[in-house]
Amino acid sequence: MKRAAGRGASRVQAWFPTLIYRAPLSSGSGALALNRELLKEAAQLREFDRAGLSWSLKHYHGGYTSYGSMDRLQQFSSTFDQLRRRLDRHVQRFAQTQHWELGGRSLEMTDCWLNIMPRGTAHSFHLHPQAAVSGTYYLKTPRGTPGLKFEDPRLAMMMAAPPRSAEVAPEQRAHITYAARAGELILFESWLRHEVPPNPVSAERISISFNYHWL
Ligand code: NI
Repeated sequence: MKRAAGRGASRVQAWFPTLIYRAPLSSGSGALALNRELLKEAAQLREFDRAGLSWSLKHYHGGYTSYGSMDRLQQFSSTFDQLRRRLDRHVQRFAQTQHWELGGRSLEMTDCWLNIMPRGTAHSFHLHPQAAVSGTYYLKTPRGTPGLKFEDPRLAMMMAAPPRSAEVAPEQRAHITYAARAGELILFESWLRHEVPPNPVSAERISISFNYHWL
C-alpha cells in the first residue's frame, strides 16, 4: 500500500494478510497421465455412486459431487492417493509461507471429493470448519466455466463501512475470483469463505476438493 501523501509523518500500512496459494500440480508427462486417470475415475464414480447422485440431487443441483457419499477418495483409490502425495508437497510449502509451527504434528489430508458441474450448477459461499487448509485441484475447466470466488474475511465486521470505489486495488476489494485452470491447484486457510458461481456454459467443470487437518 502506498504511503499517504501530505505533510507530517502520517502513513498507512497494510496488516493481516490473507494468503491464497496457486500452483501447477507438477510438471512433466507424469502429471498429464495422472490427470487422464483421474478423469477416467471421475466418470466411473459418477456412473456408479448411487448414494452420491441422490445426495447431489438435493444439495448440488444439476451436478454430481461425492461430498455426501465418498469424501475420502484418497483412501478409496490409489490414483487419488497419488494426487494426495503431490498435494502434500504444496500444502507443506503453504505452511511454510504461513510460518506455522507444526510441532510434532503434521498437516494431513482428511477428506477428498469429486465435483462435476454442468451448466447451472453452483456452490454458494461456505467455509470448512475444523480443517486447517482447504483447496481444489482442477481437472477440466472448459472456457467460460466459473472460477473460485473468495470473500474478505472481515466483511461481516464492516457494519457501517461506506462502500469502496470501483477503482480500488484488487487487494482492497471485498471479493477476489481466481480463474479455474486445469492442472492447477488453489490452497487457502479453511476459515476463508468461498463460492463457485453458477456455471454459465454447457461444458462441464470438473474438480477435486480436499481438506487438511493438523493432526
Ligand atoms: Ni469449499
